[in-house]
Amino acid sequence: MKVYSVALIPGDGIGPEVLKAGKKVMNAAAEVASFTWQWTEYPFGAEHWLKYRKGLPTLMSEEDMAKLGTHDAVYFGAVGDPRVPEHVEQAGALLWMRFYFDQYINLRPAKLLRGVASPLWGKKPKEINLYVVRENSEDFYIGLGSRFTGTKGSEHLELLRTLYKARFKVDVDLEPGDELAYQIGAISRRGAERVIRYGFELARRKKLTRVTVVHKANVLTKMYGLWIEVAESVAKGYPDIELEFAIVDAAAMWLVRRPEWFQVIIAPNMFGDILSDLAAATVGGMGFAPGGNINPDRKVGVSMFEPIHGSAPRHGGLNKANPVATILAGKLMLEHLGEDRVAELVEQATEDVLDAGKIRTYDMGGTSSCSAMGDAISERLLQLKL
Ligand code: IPM
Ligand code: MG
Repeated sequence: MKVYSVALIPGDGIGPEVLKAGKKVMNAAAEVASFTWQWTEYPFGAEHWLKYRKGLPTLMSEEDMAKLGTHDAVYFGAVGDPRVPEHVEQAGALLWMRFYFDQYINLRPAKLLRGVASPLWGKKPKEINLYVVRENSEDFYIGLGSRFTGTKGSEHLELLRTLYKARFKVDVDLEPGDELAYQIGAISRRGAERVIRYGFELARRKKLTRVTVVHKANVLTKMYGLWIEVAESVAKGYPDIELEFAIVDAAAMWLVRRPEWFQVIIAPNMFGDILSDLAAATVGGMGFAPGGNINPDRKVGVSMFEPIHGSAPRHGGLNKANPVATILAGKLMLEHLGEDRVAELVEQATEDVLDAGKIRTYDMGGTSSCSAMGDAISERLLQLKL
């Protein structure tokens, strides 16, 4: 029997309860598809940091990261707690995992499921059905920049990545009394190439016909100029797939006006961050939005699957959060592991339960609990045949 070793990181706030529901559904999936999970739970979250790492910039140590790297995948709840500085649980956990394991793809599907209402009037199930493929390692997320107050300054900035190493030297000469902050964005040819190619391959795999490449090359001409050039060259290898460009502001407008147009949206990191929340809103909100932080080469870096919502500390521990995003993140994890068929069944079971309408969490206007949703989906999944 196949065994998949998976690291569980429940985290903070609603993280533990949604992940518990996700794990329950994943256990049902294993039963249906006859494989075994080997779960290892890690305590990374606010308590862990306050107890063992207070004052340090990251939630996990190098050693912790190395351990995570030994698994077939990481299944993640959410982190974020008012007692811990924001940058520790964001840059020091999420971004660190993305960079450390070179998870250069952020795959964020948005599909309107049966039984879920879109805030956009008159949209029917599956009418909204798109993938945001967000670049996950470059752009304005590289964390290089500085602040200056009225002096000369010189900074040596380093971008040290698995893919390449780049060094910047920035001299700033400022009038006394002035204050200035800058932050560098960077896109590399190889960095753009690999994510755009992934988007086209995804389109091919899912039998889709159009890829929309988002940019802002009219203003940020250098970075997104390169991005566009690379997209055009990659697209030559996919004559069966239409390449369309969209400037990000117009893309946002069209996502609301005509979401059914989009199939695969490939976006640089920051635009992808924004558009994926918007796409999530069109399919019922963050309770329905899963994400995969993926390194397609499992030997190079482990991939991490999570709901794209945060830890919602105020709701934590109340067993009321909607676990569907986490369950669908589990679906992405199954696909990543090659268990495509049972992955489909996870979505089908989820839709069946949502469509039946008996179990509805508070974000859907109901009063059902997080665990009731997880239980119902796993029970339904166990009735389905591979
Ligand atoms: C996301 C989040 C993160 C991001 C934050 C928490 C660093 O918004 O996963 O979309 O900006 O990528
Ligand atoms: Mg975000």
